[in-house]
Amino acid sequence: MVIEVVKVSKSFGRIKALDNVSFTVNNSEVVGYVGLNGAGKTTTIRIAVGVLPPDSGDVFIDGYSVTRDKKRASKIVGWVPESPIFESEFKALDYFIYLAGYYGISANEARRLGIELLEKFGLGEAMYRKLSEYSQGMKKRFALAISMINDPPNFIFDEVLNGLDPRGIAFFRELAVEFRKRGKAVLFSSHILSEVEGIADRVVFIHRGRIIGVYNMDEIRYKARPALEILLSRLDNHVLKILEKYGEPSIIGEQRVILRDPRVDSSVVISDLVNSGIGVLEVKREEKSLEEFFFSLIKKAESDHL
Ligand SMILES: Nc1ncnc2c1ncn2[C@@H]1O[C@H](COP(=O)(O)OP(=O)(O)OP(=O)(O)O)[C@@H](O)[C@H]1O
Ligand SMILES: [Mg+2]
Repeated sequence: MVIEVVKVSKSFGRIKALDNVSFTVNNSEVVGYVGLNGAGKTTTIRIAVGVLPPDSGDVFIDGYSVTRDKKRASKIVGWVPESPIFESEFKALDYFIYLAGYYGISANEARRLGIELLEKFGLGEAMYRKLSEYSQGMKKRFALAISMINDPPNFIFDEVLNGLDPRGIAFFRELAVEFRKRGKAVLFSSHILSEVEGIADRVVFIHRGRIIGVYNMDEIRYKARPALEILLSRLDNHVLKILEKYGEPSIIGEQRVILRDPRVDSSVVISDLVNSGIGVLEVKREEKSLEEFFFSLIKKAESDHL
């Protein structure tokens, strides 16, 4: 339903891992949590699911505080840790049934649900194998299945795509669609913006323990589109008409215009302008990829902070 991270700070000795971190994940929303190694993603997630106490601030799961009402809050959030460890000699399905017992699910019902979920997560053939023999990716898949035992309204996944094969990633993408339809609030971390792109509705960027930006995926895609920045001798309706033939112009200065999504090579645009008697003083081509967008945010945050 809703996950609210409110002014959370956390230090480990002299390292300030989180500095006043706030953001919200609403119902029917899938939010990517993107940052470089050591940015603070796992620390945030561990605090949000109640396994690590914050120094200050709080996280509310459907309104329940993880610090004051930990039991209630953690029941309504399913989560998958960064590296799920199962040293169990149990067979996967038996372990699933055992865990389901904690949620008051009867053995029969747990078996039915276990078979359904493990099959859904591509472990149909492996459900009678020992967990200790599972590969990394299989452990991730199994952890995903157990995070769904009690069908909680909220989910938090730490690096869930890491270690999944392309089929696993495609499967997670479908799962996100299902979660959205069913009104869940979903937060998942990743280092790689392009990996998050097809899955998240919104992205929260974290860098060195601080939130450096929150953007809708559409907005990110828009900003990451290629563009031509052109400096002209004059800028009037006539010029805009010409530019509209080739893309989406927007004026950014007295004589400066950005042409988004240019459909032709810059030379075509330049010669058309020049042939119409308009001087082209400068042309810059910006080819911004998603990762460049991410890096430009980081760069800006670092220069703001100096
Ligand atoms: N238990 C701990 N003891 C000391 N320092 C820690 C501990 N856990 C995290 N840190 C530090 O806190 C900072 C944030 O770490 P965190 O694991 O949250 O990053 P992350 O964004 O999850 O990184 P990654 O992408 O590598 O998983 C790092 O500087 C890390 O060294
Ligand atoms: Mg981490």
